[in-house]
Amino acid sequence: VRTQVGIIGAGPAGLLLSHLLHLEGIDSVVLEARSRVYVERRVRAGVVEQPSADLLREVGLADRMDKEGLPHHGFSLRFDREDHRIPLTELTGSAITVYGQQEIVKDLIQARLAAGGDIRFEVSDVAVHDVETDRPRITFDGGELECDVIAGCDGFHGVSRGTIPVAVLKTFQQDYPFAWLGLLAKAEPSHEELIYTSHERGFALHSMRSPEVTRLYLQVDPDERIEDWSDDRVWDELHLRLETDDGFELNEGPVIEKGITPMRGFVAEPMRYGRLFLAGDAAHIVPPTGAKGMNLAIADVLVLSRALAALLHKGETELVESYSDTCLRRVWRAQGFSNHMTTMLHRAPGAEDYQHRLQLSQLRYTATSSAAATSLAENYVGLPF
Ligand code: FAD
Ligand code: DHB
Repeated sequence: VRTQVGIIGAGPAGLLLSHLLHLEGIDSVVLEARSRVYVERRVRAGVVEQPSADLLREVGLADRMDKEGLPHHGFSLRFDREDHRIPLTELTGSAITVYGQQEIVKDLIQARLAAGGDIRFEVSDVAVHDVETDRPRITFDGGELECDVIAGCDGFHGVSRGTIPVAVLKTFQQDYPFAWLGLLAKAEPSHEELIYTSHERGFALHSMRSPEVTRLYLQVDPDERIEDWSDDRVWDELHLRLETDDGFELNEGPVIEKGITPMRGFVAEPMRYGRLFLAGDAAHIVPPTGAKGMNLAIADVLVLSRALAALLHKGETELVESYSDTCLRRVWRAQGFSNHMTTMLHRAPGAEDYQHRLQLSQLRYTATSSAAATSLAENYVGLPF
C-alpha cells in the first residue's frame, strides 16, 4: 500500500496529525497496536489549554467539547489547610477546558472515519525502514506501507524513537522519587474548580470529568502496588490531604478506575531523523502536574502538519528542517513549568526541612504576588502556538 504519510500510533498526536493532513489534502494511514475500544477507554489527561482548544475549534473537532467540556477560569492552590485561587482568566484573558483525553480521541476517530480515513487497529510487529531515503517504509504483521514520510506518534514505549541511531539521538531524563495514583469516581465534584494541594503527607489533586464524575490524584511512592491501595485506603488518604479549616467536604462515590503512573521528565533531541518525525510522548514526557503532555502532542503535530504540507505540495524543506527546533522550544518551556509545579507541590521522601520551608515560601509568594501568579497562569493556560 502507498500513502503519503505513514503514522504510527492512534493517540491524540497521530489522530490529530491525520486530520490536519487531510485538511491540507494529504493522505495518511494510521497504524495502532491496540484496539479501538482500548484507546477510547484509556483514562488519561483532562486539561485542554486555550491554544489547543482554539485549534480543535478551528479544525472542526470541538462540537462535543463545546457542549460537554467544562470551561474553567481559575483553580485553587491549597496549602496550610486553606485555598488560594489563581484567577486564570483575570490574569491572562484565557481559560482551560476540562474534557477527557479519551473523549478527544473518540471525536478524532469518528471525524477520521467519517472522512474516509484509514486507521488500522490491533496491528502488530510495526517496524520502520529506509528513513534516510525519500521512500521510507513501514512493515507490520501482514502488510507494508510505502510512504513519503513517517510520523512516529507511538508514545513513550513505541518503536519509532529507538530506530534513530544512538550517535544522533541525545536524550535528557529526570526521574522523580514519587508516582501518581489516579482515581475516577462516580461522585459529584466537591468544588467547582481544580484543587492542587500541598500537604505534609504528599500532593493531592481534585479534578473532574463532568458534573457526575470526579477525578482525583494522590502522590505515592514509585514502588507502590495498586493492589495495596484499597478504595477505602485511597479515600482515607484523600480526606486527610484535602481537609481544610473551613470545612471542605470530599464527595465519595463508586470507583470506576484506579491506577498508578510513574513520573518523569524526558526529552529526545532532535525530533527528526531523515524522513522520520517524532511527535508527542514518542519524543518527550513531562511530569503530569502542569497538565502539559497532551497539549504538547497537539502543538507538535500542528507544526508538523505545516512542515509536511510545504514539503509534499511545494517541495520546500525549510519547515521540515526547523521542525525539531521549533517544537523543542515549547517542549523545554513545558518541561520547566511542569518541573516547577511538581517541585512546588510534592513532598520528596527524605527531603530536608529547608526544602519544605522553600516550598511553602514559593506557594505563599504565588498566592499573594500578582506577578508570580500571572507567570504561573500564562504557562498553565498555554503560551500561544
Ligand atoms: P499516546 O497517547 O501514548 O499514544 C500513542 C499510541 O501509540 C497509543 O495508542 C499506543 O497504543 C500506540 N503504540 C505504541 N507503540 C506502538 C507500536 N509499536 N505500534 C503501533 N502503535 C503503537 N496531559 C495533558 O496535557 N493534560 C493532563 O491533564 C494530563 N494528565 C495526565 C494524567 C495521567 C495519569 C497520564 C498518564 C498522562 C497525563 N497527561 C496529561 C499526558 C498525556 O496523556 C500524554 O502526553 C498524551 O497521551 C500523549 O499523546 P500521544 O498521542 O503522543 O501518545
Ligand atoms: C488532570 C490531570 C493533570 O495532570 C492535571 O494537572 C490536572 C487535571 C485530570 O486528569 O483531570
